[in-house]
Amino acid sequence: MVSSFPGTPEPPFYHPLSLVPSRTTTGTGLFEQVRKMQSSMDEQTMRNSRLIPLLQAMQEECGYLPADRLKVLSEELGVPLSRMYGVATFYTQFRFEPLGRHLVRVCHGTACHVNGAMQIADAMTDCLGTKEGETSKDGEFTVERVACLGCCSLSPVMMVDDRVHGKLDKEKVKEVIGKLMRGELDGQ
Ligand code: FES
Repeated sequence: MVSSFPGTPEPPFYHPLSLVPSRTTTGTGLFEQVRKMQSSMDEQTMRNSRLIPLLQAMQEECGYLPADRLKVLSEELGVPLSRMYGVATFYTQFRFEPLGRHLVRVCHGTACHVNGAMQIADAMTDCLGTKEGETSKDGEFTVERVACLGCCSLSPVMMVDDRVHGKLDKEKVKEVIGKLMRGELDGQ
C-alpha cells in the first residue's frame, strides 16, 4: 500500500479489468475474442490429436507418408493438406521418403556429441554420399540423426537396424558400413 503525506490526495485506483476495453454491443470485445481464439485452438488441438494416430497407422503400413495417401486422407477428413503437412513435419517420427534397406541412426545426444558425433556423421557422408536425413541413391541406407540411444558409456554410438555400434571413430564407421555393403552383417 502506498502511504501518502497528510493533505496529499490519494492516487486514483484503477481496477485491472477496468483497463481492458469493455464488450461492445456486437460482442467483439476483448474477452469475446480471447474466448473465440481459445475455443478454435482447442478444436485444432483435438483435430491434430485425432490426426496423429492416423498418420502413425499410415507410416506403419507404408514405411513412410506417401504424398498421394496424404492427399486422400486430407479429402476424407476434410483437413487441409497444408495442415496435415504442418502436423506431420512437426514430429520427427514421421518421414516422407521410403526407408532404405538399412536404417542407420547416428546419436547426437550430449555424450556422443562431446565424443565426436559430428565426425561419425561426416564419415557416414564420406562412405555413403548420404547426409543425415537422406537415403542413399541405391536405396540401401537411410541415415537419421537421433537423440540419446541410451548407451552413453559407449559414445559415440550409432545404431544400424537393431544393432548398436559403440566407441566409434571414422575407421570403425567405414568398417561397419563396408561389412553391411558386403552383406556380412545380414541376419546378425
Ligand atoms: S548420448 Fe549417445 S547414447 Fe547417450
